[in-house]
Amino acid sequence: MKLLWALAALLLCCWRADASTGPQISVEPSEVSNQTSAILTCNLTDSTLSSKGSYWTHNDKPIEKSRSSSSNYASYNLEKITYHQSGRYECVFETDPLVKRVIEVKTLPYVGAYKHSEHGNENDKSVLTCVAHGHPLPTDWMWYKEEGSELKAIVNGTQRYEIKSTPNKTMLTIEDLNIESDGGYYFCSGNNELGQNKDKIFLRVRSRLAALWPFLGIVAEVIILVTVIFIYEKRRKPDDVTDDDDSGAAPLKSNSTANHKEKNVRQRNAN
Ligand SMILES: *[C@@H]1O[C@H](CO)[C@@H](O)[C@H](O)[C@H]1NC(C)=O
Ligand SMILES: *[C@@H]1O[C@H](CO)[C@@H](O)[C@H](O)[C@H]1NC(C)=O
Ligand SMILES: *[C@@H]1O[C@H](CO)[C@@H](O)[C@H](O)[C@H]1NC(C)=O
Ligand SMILES: *[C@@H]1O[C@H](CO)[C@@H](O)[C@H](O)[C@H]1NC(C)=O
Repeated sequence: MKLLWALAALLLCCWRADASTGPQISVEPSEVSNQTSAILTCNLTDSTLSSKGSYWTHNDKPIEKSRSSSSNYASYNLEKITYHQSGRYECVFETDPLVKRVIEVKTLPYVGAYKHSEHGNENDKSVLTCVAHGHPLPTDWMWYKEEGSELKAIVNGTQRYEIKSTPNKTMLTIEDLNIESDGGYYFCSGNNELGQNKDKIFLRVRSRLAALWPFLGIVAEVIILVTVIFIYEKRRKPDDVTDDDDSGAAPLKSNSTANHKEKNVRQRNAN
């Protein structure tokens, strides 16, 4: 039993030594928050470790050209920080095993509507979507509707609203669209520890009838066209038929034989 404990202790000690993140490296600054620029630095303070050099990673991807042959010092210059540059930076010293340390770079989240303009038909439902990028991602999402000059918060589960959110995406579903009250501007707002960003979406609600208009237009057009052709054909027929036997279109046969007789009568009268 004692042996087992000793073995466990030994394993634990060696495993610790292997997972070498931390005390051998000092960093400056320990975190970058809401800044437009920064210089990240790491010093390898444990001089017993021999390092072949160092490099940096951003969100676990090695940064090209960040490699340096300096064995105990690494720095990385962030000149213009936007949400693209936010995330986890890590300096890695090429010792055996590797030692590394994380510096987090935090910005306001980027928040953007999936589509800035949406439309739905009366009584249908509509889904408005916003996404977020950057680090940290929003921990809270809010939706607002513009009413006059104010923004009214939309509460999940009330009226016909449902909100579904993950850190990188939020969706507002509005059921049974109302043509009088639901059209207008909606805002999605994503909050992280530094603050919030928002974007807006315009929702247009069309009446059921409006959805039918194009169809009704086509039907009306066809009816008018058919009527015009019909009237025209009817008017034209008597004078157009000159040859006795060759009396034109088949569907008008009965009509044309009538015309035919009429014509013969007229011709006889003329003679
Ligand atoms: C790292 O070392 C450099 C010089 O070797 C020193 O100027 C700098 O302040 C040190 N940084 C930290 C975080 O210890
Ligand atoms: C909103 O309510 C629905 C159903 O009650 C639930 O599934 C969903 O997680 C809620 N969304 C938020 C953001 O709390
Ligand atoms: C959002 O997060 C989920 C899981 O957390 C991931 O699968 C998805 O790719 C992410 N989407 C975007 C657009 O980043
Ligand atoms: C971060 O900066 C923005 C404006 O650039 C500001 O509105 C916000 O309050 C700042 N957040 C913190 C935590 O200082």
